[in-house]
Amino acid sequence: MSSPAPNRISSIVAGRPIGPAGSDPLPSTNPADTTEVVTLVELAGPDGFAAACQAARDAQPGWADVPAPVRGQAIANAGRLVAANAEPLAALITREIGKPLAEARGEVQEIVDTCDFFLGEGRRLYGQTVPSEMPDKQLFTFRTPVGVAAVITAGNFPVAVPSWYLVPALLCGNAVVWKPAEYAAASGHALFELFAHAGVPAGVLNLVLADGATTFTGLQRALAAGLVDKVGFTGSTAVGVRIGELCGRHLQSPCLELGGKNPMVVTEDADLELAVTGALFSGFGTAGQRCTSLGTVLVHDSVHGEFVSRFDTATAAARIGTPTEDVLYGPLLDEKFAASYQTYLGWIGDHHQVLGSTGVGRIGADNPRAGFVGDPSRGLYYHPVIVDGVRPDDAIFTTETFGPLVGVTAYRSLDEAIELANAPGYGLSSSIYTTDPRKVFAFRRGISAGMVSVNNSTSGAEAHLPFGGNGRSGNGSRQSGQWVLDQFTRWQAMNWDYSGTLQKAQMDTMAVNADLDFRLG
Ligand code: UN1
Repeated sequence: MSSPAPNRISSIVAGRPIGPAGSDPLPSTNPADTTEVVTLVELAGPDGFAAACQAARDAQPGWADVPAPVRGQAIANAGRLVAANAEPLAALITREIGKPLAEARGEVQEIVDTCDFFLGEGRRLYGQTVPSEMPDKQLFTFRTPVGVAAVITAGNFPVAVPSWYLVPALLCGNAVVWKPAEYAAASGHALFELFAHAGVPAGVLNLVLADGATTFTGLQRALAAGLVDKVGFTGSTAVGVRIGELCGRHLQSPCLELGGKNPMVVTEDADLELAVTGALFSGFGTAGQRCTSLGTVLVHDSVHGEFVSRFDTATAAARIGTPTEDVLYGPLLDEKFAASYQTYLGWIGDHHQVLGSTGVGRIGADNPRAGFVGDPSRGLYYHPVIVDGVRPDDAIFTTETFGPLVGVTAYRSLDEAIELANAPGYGLSSSIYTTDPRKVFAFRRGISAGMVSVNNSTSGAEAHLPFGGNGRSGNGSRQSGQWVLDQFTRWQAMNWDYSGTLQKAQMDTMAVNADLDFRLG
């Protein structure tokens, strides 16, 4: 299967490529073979970002004038084009970020699902008619587009998560400036092309390829110039805090999807085999680099030994290696994630027991992984690591460790498990494995996460349920389904008095007569 990418790509503003700000383009490489350049990325400067916001500002009123059902046609077309190009797009994702092909295909399907949901929204986008307290007066609500949305996304889901912003934002009549991750720029560029060919007009969707610092400066300028009305950001908690601060100064509330330290509680009555399957998929799928990846398994004391032993056996047996093969996971996304993952591995202490593989750290001839699929020396491959005996004050417990590392902590009561699950202060996804419905609902009430799985892993959110987190995982904003409409529209309330007189609300309202002293008998 081919995974075509142009040799060189650049930002596209108002339908035209814009030249690079600096000299040397950034190579986007294949993490499964770091010598292979997928494409050369010409990076824009802060002015390029601001110019894209100006182009979006200019194009937005015309797009808002297109009737919503017609805008829905563009979304329908985008879904069809993504489906028709699913295999090359999935192959490109695998080549550029090392996500196993089966997962890359799932990611592409998530875009199609999102388009399927929102193409119908073009024919809904409901407002309400509301009774007035006055005669001869009507009340209405309308959803109006916010204007220009600046969307900045991560590369672990280089096209599906961006589509969660792009699709509803465009459908609602906004113009968009999209800044994908530089190390996943070819995948982003490909998705942009599909939207452009789906009938989204030039300037309504703009692509900016830039590094993080440049993007931040460009965003500062664009916000100061009044060119951005909504920021969507998926990425680290640290950057999310900075974006939240910046937007706050402009009285804006961004849509933030940040990190997670997603807990999985395994109770004494759980189906342990099912729990192990879920822990394996959500702990090590995408090499532990999903926002929804499993952070810590909280397992009841009475089944702790048995669970850990089974989890160790399953992890040791898992196929890891070349992502075009049938593997649990491939390489890390990019060098910068490999470097930060090395730091997290340094947090493993003497009181921990390390399980799951034949080594720890980067897989290679000197540190082999039994059963490795392919040649580990070519890529950024790391051993899966289960760290048992993690304590609540360990950095491994309190902080997201983006990579194939899962902690295990034993607990004695469900109250303690819930307290431990909430302790790191994130709140994206969570999971409980149990056969006791009372424990399910006690956990649901007590857990601070935006998403709760029951007898299912922490990953695998469907495209039409609210996706988002609280605390260090986000500011309570939600993506997907009908809930994201509140991110990309603003409610406008209208009242229309056709009585021909000034009827004053609260003051001229008629009252019914009642005898409130009445008692039965
Ligand atoms: C993310 O990691 O940012 O639930 C998104 C899942 C996927 C989406 C993850 N459907 O794992």
